[in-house]
Amino acid sequence: MKVFVTQPIASEAVELLEENGYTVSVSTRKLTKEELLVEAAGCEALVSLVTDKIDADIIGAGKLLRVISNVAVGFNNIDVESARKACIIVANTPGVLEQSVAEMVFAHLLAISRKLVESDRYIRDGKFKEWKMDLFIGNELRGKTLGIVGFGRVGRALVPIAQALGMKIIYTDKNETYGVSLEVLLKESDYVVLAVPLNDGTKHLIKMNELLLMKKTAVLMNVARGPVVCEADLVKALKNGLISGACLDVHEFEPCISEELIKSTNTVLTPHLGSATKEARTRMALRAAQNVIDVLSGKICQNIVSNKNI
Ligand code: GLV
Repeated sequence: MKVFVTQPIASEAVELLEENGYTVSVSTRKLTKEELLVEAAGCEALVSLVTDKIDADIIGAGKLLRVISNVAVGFNNIDVESARKACIIVANTPGVLEQSVAEMVFAHLLAISRKLVESDRYIRDGKFKEWKMDLFIGNELRGKTLGIVGFGRVGRALVPIAQALGMKIIYTDKNETYGVSLEVLLKESDYVVLAVPLNDGTKHLIKMNELLLMKKTAVLMNVARGPVVCEADLVKALKNGLISGACLDVHEFEPCISEELIKSTNTVLTPHLGSATKEARTRMALRAAQNVIDVLSGKICQNIVSNKNI
């Protein structure tokens, strides 16, 4: 049986598939839709990445396809409903990347609170002439309130790190039995971290109305998916001092980022790197490979997704 991997992944995962008797081909670059259509038509399993849009056409072309295994926890790049109708299993990689994503969140929060990006640029621009008492004064995280929007695996992984730093924690949860409302969270938090999946209910969860609820001193951090935040409204809020800063690992129109954000100094911007550690990316690739093996060999796959668990 054939497995097609849409972009390079950790070699351990390719080896695992081969050891299990599958014929694996790995594309060395991101493919166009036309190329993906051809490849999908010739394999039993498609291993996809977040930047591959697996839409109804690709699913329709996959006459032999039994599983689409996304090397990511998010699966908004896949038309899960079309896959369900075509009896193709969609699987993801939860449980292996939360620590890396959580560390990335705090890399951002520490960077913005201590003006790391700005002060690094200051040195490189040759502006460091003498030490000054009031140069790049920041804020401690200790004692500040961290508001976690979405208390899934990533949201929960933030808790021990926040506690170690002496932060107070509040959170929203999708079943709303625990935690606080989004409104309370936005009003009370010094740092708001978005850790929700992208779906119809979370697209533009944060737009002008929500930004207006935040403290003027607060920072918004998005490590979820770009479209959870309305970028145009965020740009306005930053420009008008409605909030003090933003940490963005994901972007509404990535890889395009608005010119205003690029020029801004009260932001930390990274190119969707939440899980980008050797450890997490290897575990993700291995998990995705195991999902393929489980489905194709008729075992129970632990990581099947459906629209219900978005
Ligand atoms: C990365 O963005 C993921 O969803 O795993």
